[in-house]
Amino acid sequence: MSTKTSSRLCTLLSAAALGLAALGSAQAADLHNGQTLVAQHGCMGCHGAGLDKPVSPTYPILAGQPESYLFHALQQYQAAHQTPIYGRDNAIMGGMVATLSTQDLHDIAAYIASLPTPLYAPDMTH
Ligand code: HEC
Repeated sequence: MSTKTSSRLCTLLSAAALGLAALGSAQAADLHNGQTLVAQHGCMGCHGAGLDKPVSPTYPILAGQPESYLFHALQQYQAAHQTPIYGRDNAIMGGMVATLSTQDLHDIAAYIASLPTPLYAPDMTH
C-alpha cells in the first residue's frame, strides 16, 4: 500500500470513528442524570444507600443487575407499558416511576448497573 493510500485510508477511518462516537454519545445513557434521579426520588430509602441492601428482605437488591433487565423492569412498572405476563403491576414502584421519561429510565438503569454488587462474583460466569 502506498503512503498516500494508507494516509487516505487513515483519514477515512478516523472520520468513521468520529461519526460513530458522535452517534454513540447521542444515544448513550447519562449516568450522572441517573444518579441525580435516584437521589431525588429517594430510591435508597427502600433499596439501601448503595441500592445493595434493601430495608426489607422482600425488596430486591438492585446494584449491579444488568442494565437491560433494570430498564425493562422499570418500564414495566409504568402503567402504559405493563404486560400481565411480567407481573409488574406494583403500587409502590408504579408510583416511583410514574413521572419518569423513557430516557430517564435508561439513565437510571445504566447508573444502577454500574454500582458495585453483592449479587454475584464476576468470575462465577466462567
Ligand atoms: C417505598 C419503597 C421503594 C422505593 C422508594 C423504591 N422502590 Fe424499587 N422496589 C420496591 C419494591 C417493594 C419492589 C418489588 C416490587 C415487585 O414485587 O415487583 C421494587 C422493585 C424495583 C425494581 C425491580 C428489581 C428486580 O429485581 O426486578 C427496580 C429496578 C426498582 N425497584 C428500582 C427503583 C428505583 C430506580 C427507585 C427510585 C426511583 C425505587 N425503586 C424506589 C420498593 C421501593
